[in-house]
Amino acid sequence: MMPSMGTVSRGGPVIVVGAGVVGLSCGVRLAEAGFDVEVVAREAPLATTSAVAAALWYPYRAYPFERVLAWSAATYVELCRLAGAEPDAGVRLRPGVELLRDDRGGPWWASAVPAMETVDAERVPPGYRRGWRFTSPVVDMPRYLPWLERRLRAAGGRLTLGAVDDLTTLGPRVVNCSGLGARELAHDSTVEPLRGQVVVVDQVGLDEWVVDDTDPAHPTYVIPRIDDIVLGGTDDAGRWDVEPDPEVAASILQRTRTLVPALADAKVRAHKVGLRPVRPTVRLEAARGTGQTVVHCYGHGGSGVTLSWGCADEVLRLIRSVPV
Ligand code: BEZ
Repeated sequence: MMPSMGTVSRGGPVIVVGAGVVGLSCGVRLAEAGFDVEVVAREAPLATTSAVAAALWYPYRAYPFERVLAWSAATYVELCRLAGAEPDAGVRLRPGVELLRDDRGGPWWASAVPAMETVDAERVPPGYRRGWRFTSPVVDMPRYLPWLERRLRAAGGRLTLGAVDDLTTLGPRVVNCSGLGARELAHDSTVEPLRGQVVVVDQVGLDEWVVDDTDPAHPTYVIPRIDDIVLGGTDDAGRWDVEPDPEVAASILQRTRTLVPALADAKVRAHKVGLRPVRPTVRLEAARGTGQTVVHCYGHGGSGVTLSWGCADEVLRLIRSVPV
């Protein structure tokens, strides 16, 4: 159920820059807390990197660990709630396995999930030593982003598309969720693209995900959504090109079919590329200037969805602390 709107915001609208999953989630949290919210963005939600995300809850290429763990844990809880309470949001809870080639202990973020069991060598594909099995939310982004936008509007928020060149012109309270756009908008060259390519295929009856993140060159994953499956992936640092590469697609299909033979005959629906905004650390802080506070919230790497609600909660706390 959507919280009811109540309070009338003082101090003019809060401007949220960016309509990917982080910007929309911040917009929703703020609007449902009673702030007058306008999300402004160069790209519509379905044209953002978030729309390409395989969107398994899984902390990936985001730092520092301590803050990422707290944001991830909060988001895990909220996505599980949505999976139960909001079927139209496109969030489903699915079991799956992360495959390992060594005997290391659980991941640093294990405490964020309620249960994780070790899968022993006999029950993992050849070449792997073991796995971690846990249930995680999978978010069907082509459904979820429009659902977030509807939720924003239902709470009185607005979404306006257009160029944003300068944060200083946007009024007293700004939330900067511009991802790679922060290179220009926040003059921050430490946020860089980590190019990821995926292949989307028909759903062939899979309901479990699988991830192999053991190769430093690229992850391999199979993420079943409601009526398709996302296969990945790649990690190309510093590359800005967004045209899918046919050789890379062939490698993704080969790697994922080896892991999951049931994919052999799955028809290819689409090839996609997204530029993950990586940064040495996620920037989530309030920068107070004369007459303006900008809450920066960008640099989520491959974890935009995984961190989205935890970060949105912190953005709300920071905006609430701005004197008006
Ligand atoms: C990614 O491409 O960012 C990714 C998706 C699922 C699991 C690991 C990485």
